Amino acid sequence: MSNTEMGNNSIMDYELRKYESRTRKSFELFNQAKESTPFGVHSNYRYIDPYPMYGTRAKRSRIWDVDGNEYLDFNMGFGALLVGHSHPVLVEAIEDRVRDGSLLGLEFEDSDKLARVMKERFQLDMIRFSTTGMEATMHAIRFARAATGRNKIVKFEGCYHGSQDHLLVSVKPQLDKSGDARHPNAVPASKGTPTDTLRNTIVAPFNDLEAVETLVRENQNDFAGIILEPIPMNMGFIMPESGFLQGLRSICDEYNAVLIFDEVKTCGKYYGGATERFGVEPDLKVMGKAIAGGFPLSAVGGRRKIMEQIVPGIVAHAGTFNSNPISITAGLVSLTKILTRDAFSGVSKLNRKLASAYSQIVEDNHLEANVCSDGVSGVLSFSSKPILNWRDFQKSDVGKWSLYYLMMLNRGIIPAGTGPDEQWTISVQHTEEDVDRHIETFKEVAPMLKEFDVQMPIVEAI
Ligand SMILES: Cc1ncc(COP(=O)(O)O)c(C=O)c1O
Repeated sequence: MSNTEMGNNSIMDYELRKYESRTRKSFELFNQAKESTPFGVHSNYRYIDPYPMYGTRAKRSRIWDVDGNEYLDFNMGFGALLVGHSHPVLVEAIEDRVRDGSLLGLEFEDSDKLARVMKERFQLDMIRFSTTGMEATMHAIRFARAATGRNKIVKFEGCYHGSQDHLLVSVKPQLDKSGDARHPNAVPASKGTPTDTLRNTIVAPFNDLEAVETLVRENQNDFAGIILEPIPMNMGFIMPESGFLQGLRSICDEYNAVLIFDEVKTCGKYYGGATERFGVEPDLKVMGKAIAGGFPLSAVGGRRKIMEQIVPGIVAHAGTFNSNPISITAGLVSLTKILTRDAFSGVSKLNRKLASAYSQIVEDNHLEANVCSDGVSGVLSFSSKPILNWRDFQKSDVGKWSLYYLMMLNRGIIPAGTGPDEQWTISVQHTEEDVDRHIETFKEVAPMLKEFDVQMPIVEAI
């Protein structure tokens, strides 16, 4: 049945009924889990309407839900699984490691091996490991404040740096609260954020160097540093305009402040991360997600002068699970044996194929949409023009994206993360056939998206 025959709401209804009939066990589990767990999920990002799918197992590029449905996975653990699911080399190494102890309470002998691998690959003088991206960004801004003796951190509207108070500001702010586009308000992304914290977070528009300069000038006496996703990947996939990153570098140099690249996502999108991609060197880098092949490991690294401040009793950095043997082993195996330069070049080639097919399908079907892609990831945004910042992203058509996502799921493809703010990721275990199937499925779905026009607001779902 065509879209016009079915009408706007009925096509969404039809796909929702299809989803419900395929995922009855997920529905049952959701109702059960809701009793003990708010919204039935342990991370708000995992919730989707009308209820989330629950998974059982995954292998290579595939994942299975509790109803036995098989999906080709292009979410890949929100970008953490560039190695693909259960890579055999990683599985073997982790099985061996578990037998020899998973947590020693001593520093693990291989931690320094991984530190050296990462220092060289990501151009760092020194490095400290922790477990989640959130902890690592929290530490990075602490180090910047300690190094400068100042408090205020500039962050960008629409960027996400984990669920910590200081940076959980203007992540997905609604327009009516956001104020002037070039001088945005600091909008808390969660109830419970202390107002004092908000005072020290300056919100700037991405890709607008002049606006950043003005904001920094206004706060220069207490300006400690700038943190950013060099490619914002929590409002789709936004490339920095030429000169933007270099301009931020110059501002930090001028005010003797600390430039922090949050590379939690980008460190797994290019062999040497965003620094290698753009040739701009920050003072600190935060890394996570893909570095340990799906095991929890994060890191902050950078200039010796800043990192050397970490001294017991002076600048704090601690964690029970920091550099645990499982995560360190996973990091060493992933970075040295799986995520090699050659592997990146193969995956990037597949990514280019997927992105150019998406662009062609968008054009063939006259969809008002943009495809942005680089490295091993990309995004489809239903927007009339390329997206440069949060305000542009906010104007994109969330209703159409939600239908696209649902239709792809119903046809066995998880096309990206769980919202239009997320992107697709291709892993080293995806094959050309996987990409071809993704393309064929989008070809089938695209004509039905054209007429669909139900506006939905972007919800603050953190
Ligand atoms: C850019 C960025 N920084 C930090 C984080 C937080 O990482 P984690 O979820 O491991 O705390 C995320 C998570 O998606 C992220 O995308």
